[in-house]
Amino acid sequence: MASAAEYAKQTLEQAEGGHDWQHIQRVVVNSERIAQSEACDQEIVFLGALLHDIADSKFHGGDDEIGPLTARRFLISQNAPETLIEHVEQIVRHISYKGGQKSSFYSPELAIVRDADRLDAIGAIGIARAFNYGGFKNRKIFDPSIAPVAYATKEAYKASTAPTINHFYEKLLKLKDLMHTDTGKALAQQRHQYMLDFLTQFFEEVQFDGFA
Ligand code: ADP
Ligand code: NI
Repeated sequence: MASAAEYAKQTLEQAEGGHDWQHIQRVVVNSERIAQSEACDQEIVFLGALLHDIADSKFHGGDDEIGPLTARRFLISQNAPETLIEHVEQIVRHISYKGGQKSSFYSPELAIVRDADRLDAIGAIGIARAFNYGGFKNRKIFDPSIAPVAYATKEAYKASTAPTINHFYEKLLKLKDLMHTDTGKALAQQRHQYMLDFLTQFFEEVQFDGFA
């Protein structure tokens, strides 16, 4: 469905830098790479990757259903069959970290797109996206008085104005253990190590020895 790429491109061209059309393109590429070694429906994977951030609740007043609904409306406009629409809608609904942990829906195609999306949150690109998002939210890069360790609860973290370095401990360093596919796991391991090296160098440069 070539029109899906055009639709996602147009919709997300102006989006915040971490969730824009380039993110979608990277997730499509990651998905295709992972899909090579998995039994799956490649069209579903492709559409799931293209539409997974079509309307992120973070930028739409916290409405979790806006993304799945937007994907459904587009696929209806393309006269896609209901079984395909339903599956892609479920991928969009269940892809996020938040929903992912207690997901009531699972398919090989969801696993592939979720791994592909998570890969884009770690490694060099993950570091860039985290600081980009932190800047968008006017967060500090680092604050030695707010220890860079995980918060006790997600609510406590969300309510805080934690600096972006904390996001690594809150989420990014956990992602490698949440990968579903073997290809995803292998790629995540490399990117994880790159983040650890980055953090070591970062704390050295800012002369923070809070971990000692
Ligand atoms: P997903 O859509 O994959 O569940 P998010 O939308 O939460 O992930 O995050 C998208 C990008 O923004 C990721 O690269 C993530 O690391 C980054 N991000 C999200 N929340 C924060 C935060 N509080 N601080 C820094 N980066 C963040
Ligand atoms: Ni995404």
